[in-house]
Amino acid sequence: MKRQRLANIKALPEGEAVKFQFQRDGISQEGFALSIGDQIVAYENRCRHLPLSLDYGDGRFFTRDGAHLICQSHGALYEPLTGLCVRGPCVGASLRPLKVEFAKGALWLVP
Ligand code: FES
Repeated sequence: MKRQRLANIKALPEGEAVKFQFQRDGISQEGFALSIGDQIVAYENRCRHLPLSLDYGDGRFFTRDGAHLICQSHGALYEPLTGLCVRGPCVGASLRPLKVEFAKGALWLVP
């Protein structure tokens, strides 16, 4: 996987997620990034219970209290910083992480 420009943004507001498309082996995939404190984390937008997007397409990833990421299909809860599923049908599994960074006014996927 090569370095890819994902989105023309300079920062991620706390408590919000930004979705992006990226290429893996020539196939378009969807991911999302969020900032937590001074860290930026990103994951593939795919639940570990079934191969469905967490947000069901509407861009909402967080629980109402903002404490967890939630899969809208069956309610699996994931820790935002680690991607670990802590409640639901895939407890113990983790979202697939992606390495991202800000540079030159954009968010980049780093191989
Ligand atoms: S598809 Fe995500 S919890 Fe079932």
